[in-house]
Amino acid sequence: MSVVIENPVLHATEALHDANPMLPSAFVVRAVAKETYDTFTLAVEPQNGVGTAFLPGQFSMLWVYGVGELPISISGNPAEPQHLVYTIRSVGAATHALVSQKVGSAVGVRGPYGTAWPLEAARGRDLIIIAGGIGLAPLRPVIYEVLNHRSDYGRLVLLYGARSPRDLLYRKELKSWARQDDTQVLTTVDYGGLSWRGHVGVVTTLFKFARLQPAKSVAMVCGPEIMMRFVLRELDAVGLRREDVYLSMERNMKCGVGLCGHCQYGPHFICKDGPVFRSDIVRPLMEKYEL
Ligand SMILES: Cc1cc2nc3c(=O)[nH]c(=O)nc-3n(C[C@H](O)[C@H](O)[C@H](O)COP(=O)(O)OP(=O)(O)OC[C@H]3O[C@@H](n4cnc5c(N)ncnc54)[C@H](O)[C@@H]3O)c2cc1C
Ligand code: FES
Repeated sequence: MSVVIENPVLHATEALHDANPMLPSAFVVRAVAKETYDTFTLAVEPQNGVGTAFLPGQFSMLWVYGVGELPISISGNPAEPQHLVYTIRSVGAATHALVSQKVGSAVGVRGPYGTAWPLEAARGRDLIIIAGGIGLAPLRPVIYEVLNHRSDYGRLVLLYGARSPRDLLYRKELKSWARQDDTQVLTTVDYGGLSWRGHVGVVTTLFKFARLQPAKSVAMVCGPEIMMRFVLRELDAVGLRREDVYLSMERNMKCGVGLCGHCQYGPHFICKDGPVFRSDIVRPLMEKYEL
């Protein structure tokens, strides 16, 4: 049985939460699963037992007591709102503190915030999902949602690239998704090593193996910005309309709700106008400026 470590600060803030959206709600860590050497998936449950509905693509502000607060995409199944799931790569102080949480410890959660992947617009059409590295985390809820309502969508094509085989996320799920009807899953790594028998090369090298019907497809892309730029060019080349391509953008955040300006990207605030944007809206910024 897990022991809940009471966090007095989180308790004190609970009553004030409704009055102030900047105050986090208290959640309890229910599971911590190791995905790779530096990436972990956490499942958290609200202390008040009230589930949190979210849309695929949205993020939370996660607060680690004594360390800080940071934006993390929700990577779980939208059909399971009783807990929220996050996949976190440890790159600095706050992410390290998050992945080091023990079952039963308390974290603060604000949100969900931000725009969602366009699942309504994708109904009846094929989905092309292109992810690089941790970018698969915000796209995993899309895959769950498509599998939850399989007959509502056409073909599902997932192109996923990671730095090396040991960086691949959700390995068991990748295999199980690949076995689904009307689904193609292709993975590649930048560096394979001696035992890797799969594709080697950047994610765009997978396009020649993908069975695509561009005229009836919607594409959703998340990964490092440089990767997304090359993916956009490839999607142009195969004939996808720019209005049918969506990206999730990342910038440093503080408030998460459009107040502080930290996440400004040209005329947009990533936290409230994004993180998911239609590509024709952000593409001029991606091409012209180092913003
Ligand atoms: C909308 C949104 C959703 C996000 N979703 C996720 C998610 O699902 N999972 C996740 O792990 N992260 C996600 N991030 C990124 C995450 O918020 C940052 O990695 C985190 O803020 C870094 O905080 P830190 O204190 O651990 O590292 P810092 O101390 O801020 O940074 C430590 C070092 O890591 C580098 N660094 C910082 N961020 C990244 C990064 N994203 N990739 C590579 N290097 C980085 C810094 O340049 C620095 O050198 C998301 C960010 C946004 C804006
Ligand atoms: S994080 Fe404050 S405005 Fe977006």
